[in-house]
Amino acid sequence: MSSPEAVDDARAFAELDALLSEGLGAFAEARDSAAVEAARVEFLGMKQGRIKHAQERLKTLEPSARRGYGQKFNSVKKSLEEACEEARNRIGRSKPDRAVRSVDLTLPGNRERRLGHTHPLTQTADELIDLFGRLGFEVARGPEVEDVRHNFEALNIPPAHPARDPRDNFYLSESSMLRSQTSTVQIRVMEKRKPPIRVVAIGRVYRPDVVDATHSFMFHQIEGLMVDKGVTMADLKTVLRLFAASYLGTDVQIRFRPSFFPFTEPSVEVDMLWHGGDRWVEMGGAGMVDPNVFEAVGYDPEVYTGFAFGLGVERLCMRRHAIDDIRLLYQNDVRFLEQF
Ligand code: PHE
Repeated sequence: MSSPEAVDDARAFAELDALLSEGLGAFAEARDSAAVEAARVEFLGMKQGRIKHAQERLKTLEPSARRGYGQKFNSVKKSLEEACEEARNRIGRSKPDRAVRSVDLTLPGNRERRLGHTHPLTQTADELIDLFGRLGFEVARGPEVEDVRHNFEALNIPPAHPARDPRDNFYLSESSMLRSQTSTVQIRVMEKRKPPIRVVAIGRVYRPDVVDATHSFMFHQIEGLMVDKGVTMADLKTVLRLFAASYLGTDVQIRFRPSFFPFTEPSVEVDMLWHGGDRWVEMGGAGMVDPNVFEAVGYDPEVYTGFAFGLGVERLCMRRHAIDDIRLLYQNDVRFLEQF
């Protein structure tokens, strides 16, 4: 029968075995540096670590067992230190590996960025400017907040004229308003310059219309003005026909109807045949500049003649792209806008 001391010594040796196998296991399983450090503290820590405990155990052993125990202790300690070192290296090394693994290489590569583009109305405006530019028209501009003189008076629209009704205009005061037409720019150009003149002006105009598929309280017009000696109605019709053929296509018919505007005489309305060919839609108004307008800006109507036109930009854009509801142009629905 073994002595109690011998039993105790055997337990000490077994504890060393357990310390070794559990320690190796902990270092092998550690997946990050925090886990390695935790294992190091638990097994190799010189304050509370199990190795420290095992070392102190030496003193309690029978002298005969001490030498063997000491050798075994040293080799266990060495193995654990190596395992700790190895675990540290493994985690340090594998860091970049893990970063690479977090990129999913099976995903489709080279995803294209979605590029934006100009709004269809802007595209239309750019094209119109380009087209009229080729016909010799330069670009003019005028303010959206206008005075009554440029919006009405100089355009031969006297104070009592129904077009000046407050219910049909956005007045800001007695004398200023949001312009209801781009014809204001005709006046601004002629006030500043002498003929010959060939300009187009594109911009917003405002009228208190109820919004529906074909109306809006704000829309865009392109105004044209040509003044020189000997300009005739034939020039007007030629320019508008050339323009319509280039912008809408040679298959799109347009027609001129007699009409009335205070600032042109004679006046016409210009229609285009809509898709399907079953209805005419108004493109805008036009005519020969009224002598009263020339007088308002100091031109001699006996020397100069000219034509002017004002076309709806939305209508042109809609006819061109077969859009049937003007509201689509203002809603900024990407599913719609993407198509242009
Ligand atoms: N300004 C007119 C309108 O808004 C259109 C027009 C412009 C008519 C130029 C004749 C000449 O209805």
